[in-house]
Amino acid sequence: PRVVVLISGSGSNLQALIEAQSHDRLGGEIVAVISNEADAYGLKRARDAGIDAVALPHREYDSREAYDGALIKVIERHEPDLIVLAGFMRILTPRFVQRFLGRMLNIHPSLLPAYQGLNTHARALADETKQHGCSVHFVTEELDGGPVVLQAELNVTSDDDVESLKQKVQAREHLILPIAVQWFLQGRLQYSGDGATMDGHLL
Ligand code: GRF
Repeated sequence: PRVVVLISGSGSNLQALIEAQSHDRLGGEIVAVISNEADAYGLKRARDAGIDAVALPHREYDSREAYDGALIKVIERHEPDLIVLAGFMRILTPRFVQRFLGRMLNIHPSLLPAYQGLNTHARALADETKQHGCSVHFVTEELDGGPVVLQAELNVTSDDDVESLKQKVQAREHLILPIAVQWFLQGRLQYSGDGATMDGHLL
């Protein structure tokens, strides 16, 4: 099976997927990495791993629709079975989501449905929440609202700040994203309507 990964930055989640693949723990092949930021370090990680690395700068397009149209074309050229958003910092148009609905996963740095959107660690700290973490979910038209397939939870400690929380969460992202991708590529995850099933069991 073929995987396309969309990034915008460092690509540490991409690196986790690359390493899972190199240890035969992904269940498929990352055939391309696409970034909306041309200087994303994740593009170097892709090139170093011999993976097709494509920069598609969104600033070169005059609308979200135009950009997503170009992005769809680049993605489809690689004929993926799965699209993974790994720190892809773009709001997707409904047309884009519908095109890949049911075969697009995202990693989000919170215990969804808590803290959809940005600045999740600062918001969790401000609320003095005790439990925090990360989630892999199917992408739907609702931002960070799709059915969750896998989460990792951690305890927030009194000495945590945004940076320490980010580090703790990212360490867990690097564990759960490859697992969720492998489950999907093994055909164990299904998206249906507003729910998702794992091995036929409603999640
Ligand atoms: C991750 O923490 C992810 O949860 C968030 O953006 C970050 C991307 O980090 N959406 P990286 O580019 O994978 O290192």
